[in-house]
Amino acid sequence: MHVDDFDRTSIDHVLTTTRAVRRRLDLDRPVPLDVVRECLEIALQAPNGFNFQRWRWLVITDPSIRAAIAEIYRRVELPAVEALASQVPADDFDTQKVAASSRYLGDHLERVPVHVIPCHAGGLQQDRELFTHLGYDTDLDNMVAASTYAEIWPAAWSFMLALRSRGLGSSLTMIHLGAEPEVARLLDIPDEISQAGLIPVAYFRGEDFRPAPRRPLDEVAFHDRWGQPLTRPATSTSVGPL
Ligand SMILES: Cc1cc2nc3c(=O)[nH]c(=O)nc-3n(C[C@H](O)[C@H](O)[C@H](O)COP(=O)(O)O)c2cc1C
Repeated sequence: MHVDDFDRTSIDHVLTTTRAVRRRLDLDRPVPLDVVRECLEIALQAPNGFNFQRWRWLVITDPSIRAAIAEIYRRVELPAVEALASQVPADDFDTQKVAASSRYLGDHLERVPVHVIPCHAGGLQQDRELFTHLGYDTDLDNMVAASTYAEIWPAAWSFMLALRSRGLGSSLTMIHLGAEPEVARLLDIPDEISQAGLIPVAYFRGEDFRPAPRRPLDEVAFHDRWGQPLTRPATSTSVGPL
C-alpha cells in the first residue's frame, strides 16, 4: 500500500464516531476472544515511551469475576453519581444524559461479556524515581502523571477504535480505581502494576453512531500564543465542524 493510499472516508468515520457505548451494548451476544486478541495486537502498535511497552492488559470473561468487579464498581460509583446529581443543574440535559448512561453501565456491568483492564508496569512511583534521578527543576506531579498514563491510553484508544471497526462497542471508565487495591486483590494483580481504567466490551446494537457535540475548534485551539486564534487558511482542506 502506498504511504498515503488510505480510504480516508472510512478512517475519518471511525475516528469521529467512536462513542462511549453503554446502553447499546449487546449483553446477550458472546464476544470471541480472537476478536479481542486481534484488537489488542493492533493496540500494541501505539506510541509509548522509549518503546519500553510498559502496558499490560488483563482480559476478563469469567462471569463470577465480572460480577465481583461490577459489585465493587457500583459501590464506588454511587457516591460519585450522587455528588454529580447534586451539582449538575437539572436543565443540563447533556451531562444528565451521560450520568444516566454511566449509571446504566454500572447497573449492567456484570453482563458485559468482556472486561479489559489496561495496566501500567511500574506505575507513577517508577516514573517519579526516574524523573527525580534526572534532576528536573520542576514540580514533577504533572510530568509524572502525564507520562505514566500516556504510556497506556493511546494504545487503549487504538484498541477501542479497532473494536469499533469490527462492530463492537466499549467505553473508557475510571471509576473503579476508587477501589483499585480491592480489584487488584481480586485479580491477583501484583503491587508493581497500576491499573489505568476498565474497558467493558460488547457488540453494539442498533444503528451507526454519529459525531458527538463538542466545543468548536476555535474555542479550544490557539496559534503561536495562548488565546490567539487558529485562523483557517484560505486553502484549508480541513473537514470543518462535524
Ligand atoms: C478520564 C475519563 C474517565 C472516564 N470515566 C468514565 C466512567 O467512570 N464511567 C463511564 O461510564 N464513562 C467514563 N468516561 C467516558 C466519558 O463519559 C465519555 O468519554 C464522554 O462522555 C464522551 O462520550 P462520547 O465520546 O460518546 O461523546 C470517562 C472518560 C474519560 C476520558
